[in-house]
Amino acid sequence: MKKTVWMAAAAGALLVFFAGGCGSAAPAGESAPAQEAPKAAAEAAAPKQAGPKKILILYYSLAGGNTKSIADQLQQATGADIERIEPQTPYSGSYDDIVAQGKREVDEGYRPALKDLAHQPEDYDIIAVGTPTWWYTMAPPVLTLLSEHDWSGKTIIPFQTHAGWPGHTLEDMQAAAPGAEFRYPLQVQFDHQTLASPQADIDSWLADVKTIL
Ligand SMILES: Cc1cc2nc3c(=O)[nH]c(=O)nc-3n(C[C@H](O)[C@H](O)[C@H](O)COP(=O)(O)O)c2cc1C
Repeated sequence: MKKTVWMAAAAGALLVFFAGGCGSAAPAGESAPAQEAPKAAAEAAAPKQAGPKKILILYYSLAGGNTKSIADQLQQATGADIERIEPQTPYSGSYDDIVAQGKREVDEGYRPALKDLAHQPEDYDIIAVGTPTWWYTMAPPVLTLLSEHDWSGKTIIPFQTHAGWPGHTLEDMQAAAPGAEFRYPLQVQFDHQTLASPQADIDSWLADVKTIL
């Protein structure tokens, strides 16, 4: 029952969300379709860059580890470097405490300070960025991450986990990382810690990502 607090609040908010006709996110449980790469034509004409592209996976995941489980699958499929981003002050207290703190932080656009990364996104061509959904958007540590780096010329592969209300997470990630090309966004639903989206959607995403390495 630990998710009842945000779910109860979410139920009220959702009425407004759907009644307002603002539901641009993919339906719960469906992975969003792969986006067309804006520069596809130019890329096709240009000589292919020699050698494999360097890929880094950066993700945030609370204790439940849903987002970690997707990050781990991507790491196994690609052999990428992988790192969990960590706020300098870890979230603590009960789940309900964290839900309440998360709401305050999301409402304020708060960016918690992060521990130093062992891997720098600047050293990679492609960075997969994973987040749980917190109040219809990315978790605040991921907002910090995206805000603190120059993503110009980088490809970002965003992935999010959620419990049925993915919100505007992917759009917000894109807005927080100007200059990056976003490809192959993925949304995965969990029922608590149980995968609710088809594993086949994740497998298909993994195969798509491998095509650009
Ligand atoms: C602070 C907080 C806010 C949440 N807000 C949402 C939400 O808006 N929509 C949703 O579907 N799930 C929401 N959830 C549930 C998580 O997104 C979901 O359980 C996710 O898979 C957890 O990933 P993790 O185990 O990697 O942290 C929220 C969870 C927390 C802790």
